[in-house]
Amino acid sequence: MAKTPIDALGPPELLRDIAHVLLTPEQIQQRVVELGAEISEAYQGKDLLIIGVLRGVIFFVADLARAITIPASVDFMSISRYGPSERTRGVVRLIKDLEEPIEGRHVLFVEDIIDTGFTLSYILNILRTRHPASLKVCALLDKQSFRLIDLPIAFRGFQIEDHFVVGYGLDYKQRYRNLPFIGVLKPEVYAPPPATPN
Ligand code: IMP
Ligand code: MG
Repeated sequence: MAKTPIDALGPPELLRDIAHVLLTPEQIQQRVVELGAEISEAYQGKDLLIIGVLRGVIFFVADLARAITIPASVDFMSISRYGPSERTRGVVRLIKDLEEPIEGRHVLFVEDIIDTGFTLSYILNILRTRHPASLKVCALLDKQSFRLIDLPIAFRGFQIEDHFVVGYGLDYKQRYRNLPFIGVLKPEVYAPPPATPN
């Protein structure tokens, strides 16, 4: 298949903020299909419940759930994180809880990206108190270099370098989610150069 030029991959006002494409739509889809097959085999004959945290993960969950070839339910929760900076947002608050009980069910918690691990650790602690039959993590992207809390990831899409990435659900200030690829955001977009003294 011919390679898609980047200017065909989204609106110009978003593309100009992208330093480079990290994962093309084709690379993402291929890996999602592989993950779906792995998950289907691992949960054969089990009551599988996929849980995601809104909003970024809906793109990944939608594709992953369709790549899973055994019956599975899907549920979502929503949280907010507060803190002085993007990376020290230690306080997590549950905004929307699950619709379904998870006791006795095989829960697969699906994340778009794991960075420090704070968010995941908070959510896993909540889910554990509800006694699922099992609880495992599937993450599309793993930024292992900045992990502060060590967590086992049963199904991993890609391990990536410590860049700020957007697209395929991932945002910066709610933008870029609808790009079909995953790209590295130009640093000047989130860290404007310091004002020059006059
Ligand atoms: P953690 O709690 O530090 O692991 O952060 C995980 C959350 O931070 C993810 O669910 C994302 O919402 C956000 N995040 C971390 N890194 C990135 C990134 O490179 N791009 C977009 N969002 C990110
Ligand atoms: Mg997220």
